[in-house]
Amino acid sequence: MKDERLDKDRRLFMARTLALGAAGGAWMSTPAFSQSGSTQALLPTPAQSEGPFYPLREPADADFDLLRNGSRTYAKGNAAWVEGVVLDRAGKPLKGGIVEIWQCDADGHYDHPRDGSRMDPAFQGFGRVTLDGEGRFRFRTIRPQPYSGRTPHIHAKVKLGRQALLTTQLYVEGDPGNARDGIWRRLSEAERASVTVPYANGSDGLKATYRIVVQA
Ligand SMILES: [Fe+2]
Repeated sequence: MKDERLDKDRRLFMARTLALGAAGGAWMSTPAFSQSGSTQALLPTPAQSEGPFYPLREPADADFDLLRNGSRTYAKGNAAWVEGVVLDRAGKPLKGGIVEIWQCDADGHYDHPRDGSRMDPAFQGFGRVTLDGEGRFRFRTIRPQPYSGRTPHIHAKVKLGRQALLTTQLYVEGDPGNARDGIWRRLSEAERASVTVPYANGSDGLKATYRIVVQA
């Protein structure tokens, strides 16, 4: 009898977990509730410098897949899915929002004259996606690499129409360069936690999941 009930509990737990998964990680969009039951605003993702390497011109290929630039395929570095959700402070998905990311190639080069325009032409370096109805985004890229004086990071911008709501940087949990990086260290503990996540091996390879909160 006891075993049967345990089995039933386990099945219920699995079903709930699957349902949450099917909802696109509903845990990520659940706002925090205080003890009184009222909704608390989520901590906004910290704004961070755009840096000197935001693309000067729109690249011909600017889709979600940074490992294919036009007809070329990029095979260096560690391929990774970089995904997540963008919410407002009440925990609601930012419908119709746009996420742009840009980052250096596996050798630490950006597609920018200030970096000698040395980026590998097979690496797309910049991508843009429109959030789905649940505020989700997904990019195919590489685990970010370090370059002179910086810990690995991906630059990200959230836009609604042409308006930029947030410019920030996304980091790799456990990277030894974080503690030596002046820009990362400037963040509070809570802010660091909000933009620093593990790149973990799952069923479809390396994956990182970020939750971005904007003032919409
Ligand atoms: Fe950078």
